[in-house]
Amino acid sequence: MHTAPHTPHLASRLPTVGTTIFTVMSALAAERGAVNLGQGFPDFDCDPALLDQVTGAMREGLNQYPPMAGVPVLRRVVADKIARLYGHAYDAETEITITAGATQAILTAILCCVHPGDEVIVLEPCYDSYAPNIELAGGTVVRVPLTPGSFRPDFAKIAAALSPKTRAILVNSPHNPSATVWTRAEMLQLDALLSGTEVLLISDEVYEHMVYDGVPHVSASSIPGLAARAFVVSSFGKTFHVTGWKVGTVAAPAPLTAEFRKVHQFNVFTVNTPVQHGLARYLADPAPYLELPAFYQRKRDLFRTGLAATRLRALPSEGTYFQTVDYSAVSSLPEADFCRWLTTEIGVAAIPLSAFYEGGFEQGIARLCFAKKDETLQTALQRLAKI
Ligand SMILES: Cc1ncc(COP(=O)(O)O)c(C=O)c1O
Repeated sequence: MHTAPHTPHLASRLPTVGTTIFTVMSALAAERGAVNLGQGFPDFDCDPALLDQVTGAMREGLNQYPPMAGVPVLRRVVADKIARLYGHAYDAETEITITAGATQAILTAILCCVHPGDEVIVLEPCYDSYAPNIELAGGTVVRVPLTPGSFRPDFAKIAAALSPKTRAILVNSPHNPSATVWTRAEMLQLDALLSGTEVLLISDEVYEHMVYDGVPHVSASSIPGLAARAFVVSSFGKTFHVTGWKVGTVAAPAPLTAEFRKVHQFNVFTVNTPVQHGLARYLADPAPYLELPAFYQRKRDLFRTGLAATRLRALPSEGTYFQTVDYSAVSSLPEADFCRWLTTEIGVAAIPLSAFYEGGFEQGIARLCFAKKDETLQTALQRLAKI
């Protein structure tokens, strides 16, 4: 006797995960014809020279599986770039891996080092993939808030969160969503705190080339004590205006890289070949990433000048392509409701900061993205001036 087809029930590995606020707000923005300053991606195209390099690589027939760790020429260029910018010499053969974007890099780093029961410290507010990644590995997420108001790290709180079970800490600078950039003094404090421990550092540096007002990005790779315990993660998607390409890098000491590659090998295995070759050739000229701070600082300043004429109060934006605004002069709505209202009634989509906290934390702050054409920013500013 045949029974009706039956789909087995799944007990969710991630029972609390639903549709992200980014998807929700982008859909709402599209439905209402709002200017989408919510999700972080440029609305302008990349350098045509980069497209030429990638399509050239495709036409040359560089279309089959690359080596598991990434094409050697790209790994060498990345190692040279880090050595030049941050003064740490990674071995391209054993210490640099090319990943399918920073998201996969972070998941893989967590899966390779976190055992069930291990604790991993995240500093809230934080990027939304961190906690589910730790949970998938069977780890325990230990949340430490960045100081409300300034979003600076609170080292007393971080120290108090360290325990014999702490396996790793995730740090992100320049920081999404607060747009703060850790100073050298803060990175050195982190180094001092972790020194003598077995705690690993996952340093999410995807916005490394978006720092303003002459403030340098202080990579974990530039501080020997941190470099020795760190997976340093970056992303070409952010740097070269190609967020959809999903190609990133991980730099880590050889023993950490060896474990990283064991997971990477049976996860994505490899990252698409022609884009890797195209990026390697394009990276021969450092100008595009060295000029990025000036490129985005001009947009940031244009946006902040416009915001000054609105009732939104722009908080500092030291790095990334985000600008947070305090809207308490305009509304007492909770952040998610305010962002929904802003999208549907004013025509500008934003992201509530509470979305980057576990239990939601209301501060009356929304995040806007200024990686947009000047016309897009002007349209948004005209609308925001009306509130
Ligand atoms: C802090 C942070 N980390 C990682 C990522 C993901 O980068 P990728 O697109 O390379 O996976 C993002 C993208 O928004 C981000 O903001």
